[in-house]
Amino acid sequence: MAMFRNQVGRLAGQVALITGSESGIGRETARAFCQQGAAVILNGRQTERLEHTRQALAAEGYRVAACVADITDYAACERLVATAITHFGRLDILITNASISQRAYFADMQPEVFRQVLDSNVYGSVYPLKAALPHLIETRGSVTFISSISALNGMPSGSAYCAGKAALANLAHTLRLELADTGVHFGVVHIGFTQNDPDKRVLDAAGQPVPIAHRPPRWQKSQAQVAAIILRHVQRRRQRTVISALGRLILVVHSLLPRLGDWVVLTSQRRMRNLYE
Ligand SMILES: NC(=O)c1ccc[n+]([C@@H]2O[C@H](COP(=O)([O-])OP(=O)(O)OC[C@H]3O[C@@H](n4cnc5c(N)ncnc54)[C@H](OP(=O)(O)O)[C@@H]3O)[C@@H](O)[C@H]2O)c1
Repeated sequence: MAMFRNQVGRLAGQVALITGSESGIGRETARAFCQQGAAVILNGRQTERLEHTRQALAAEGYRVAACVADITDYAACERLVATAITHFGRLDILITNASISQRAYFADMQPEVFRQVLDSNVYGSVYPLKAALPHLIETRGSVTFISSISALNGMPSGSAYCAGKAALANLAHTLRLELADTGVHFGVVHIGFTQNDPDKRVLDAAGQPVPIAHRPPRWQKSQAQVAAIILRHVQRRRQRTVISALGRLILVVHSLLPRLGDWVVLTSQRRMRNLYE
């Protein structure tokens, strides 16, 4: 029988489904979970890129399976969850990481683009969870919604993205109350500026994929650092993790001095625009 590297570790025997894990933070989170012994179901919409990631992790000796699925399509999410059960027989951990971001001001945005961004962040968490819930209840498992520090405050040019990410915090809270008896963990991780894959794209006002705006490297965490924080969040079954000093500062300022918070956001946006546009 084949021996896999992820049959030992703190998560040995557990199965994790991570949406949007063919690239970026999701891919590195998959690697971190594999390193702790979990078997991982990878997901994305691009067959070739997903297969490339699956092969890379399999070549490192990890037990992984992949499923191409658009997480805004409920039937596709049922297939995604079925992949976990077919390959590994159970599901312990769901991380809803897939998301589309934007670089577009609300006044300019096509309504359909707003819907696409919002759907990927809201239904992109709701549908995988709806499909996975019976299995997660069986294992008293863990659910983590990947959000952003921009959900804590709001960010010009990110209306649909921020609204979608903010909705996830309330959804997690409500589910924690509704499903308290099941023993399932519901948490949210608010991620701050993180290094991106070079080919990462976000949507402009017309729905065209465009490169993400430049960010000073010293402000960013690596994808591996963020993945390690997500792993710790799941292992400790935390309700909320806010990544980075900036994220925690936003949280405090937004609660105690909201007008100052808005002034800082607007001033830094103007400075960034002058620097890079
Ligand atoms: N990078 C940052 O600085 C940062 C900051 C705050 C929060 N975050 C959050 O962290 C998470 C990961 O971000 P990232 O930077 O790694 O982004 P990324 O590189 O763009 O990865 C997002 C992944 O989601 C997939 N995806 C998007 N829509 C999908 C859909 N409908 N169905 C299935 N897969 C879909 C993408 O694959 P395809 O589009 O190829 O299918 C891609 O693999 C996101 O939730 C993001 O909002 C990131």
